[in-house]
Amino acid sequence: MTIHQALLLAGGRGTRMWPLTATVPKGLLPVAGVPFLDLQIRQLAAAGIDEVFLAVGRSQLREWQQFAESRRGVRLVVEDEPLDTAGPVRAALDDLDERFLVLNGDVVIEADLAGYLAAAQPGAKATLGLVEVEDTSAYGVVVLDDSGMVDRFVEKPPADEAPATTVNAGLYVMTRAALAVYGEGPLSFERVVFPALAAEGALQGVVIAGRWLDIGTPELFLDCTGAVLAGKTALYRPKSAHLVEGECRGTTSGGWSWIAAEASVEPGAVVEESVVLPGAVVGSDTMVRHAIVGWDVVIGSNSIVTGATIIGAGATIGPNSELDHGIRIAPGARLEPGAVTFSPPQ
Ligand code: GTP
Repeated sequence: MTIHQALLLAGGRGTRMWPLTATVPKGLLPVAGVPFLDLQIRQLAAAGIDEVFLAVGRSQLREWQQFAESRRGVRLVVEDEPLDTAGPVRAALDDLDERFLVLNGDVVIEADLAGYLAAAQPGAKATLGLVEVEDTSAYGVVVLDDSGMVDRFVEKPPADEAPATTVNAGLYVMTRAALAVYGEGPLSFERVVFPALAAEGALQGVVIAGRWLDIGTPELFLDCTGAVLAGKTALYRPKSAHLVEGECRGTTSGGWSWIAAEASVEPGAVVEESVVLPGAVVGSDTMVRHAIVGWDVVIGSNSIVTGATIIGAGATIGPNSELDHGIRIAPGARLEPGAVTFSPPQ
């Protein structure tokens, strides 16, 4: 049976990407100007999936509605309370086919999706997409038996004790039968559904290989933007690695940078391996390196913004500031000149 539906889980709080996620839901954060989910939707369309459900929360419904209305074949499944990973899928079951795809909304694995779908055995109640990792200590390892069915899960084993190197890639071929046995409400794939299916011998695993694009943390978001700008994904090809849509009177250096439309970079400023979102101003002689400058932020002159810092929308950073070490500045905050710095005054 061909699969032509996918449900993307996009209703998490996105705390690790705060304060950007205070303004825009994580899945819609722009990667070189394109909402991240568009990359996944393009990949799905190429694999013949023409109906996409986005499972989202109520908190940023307007942004989600605007996105869904402007994309063909995209529908929302709205949760009144967070239903965890499997709960939203269970809630949407009446609209889903006998077999469909489920994906995490903050990761794209650019891979042979059609091959993965074809490898899903009709007898399995679910088929996990798995990826190989070198260091298993941060992941739940999935151990397969000789017939390719999941034998067991082992949580975060040290690399030298790991019984396998394959981990859950956040990508599942799912069946209605796997979920129809559960009632409505919060439900976890990882803690409840998958262990139960494995115990039944009904959970298959298929190893897939491909580029991993992830926006779950500031570092990953920056890496993902850099990879896209460097032309490393076929899902979106910007014209240049230094994509400057706004006004740049300073310089871009390093491997890549993205300066959005209506942003401006003043003379003497340097933007390097960073994202400057629409409406932001980078003051003269300021260095922004490996950082994310939110919408309509104003950074005064002679400052340094680095170390995976995120500045929330509309914040004002006074001159002579030094923001480093992953600091997060709340939306609309005002920092007095030199109020945050690691360099004592001369
Ligand atoms: P953090 O708060 O930074 O951990 O991010 P997150 O809330 O997105 O959590 P996590 O990265 O663990 O979630 C993985 C994927 O599952 C993301 O695409 C989330 O949007 C999604 N997700 C997590 N919880 C829920 C939920 O309750 N409902 C829905 N619809 N999606 C969820």
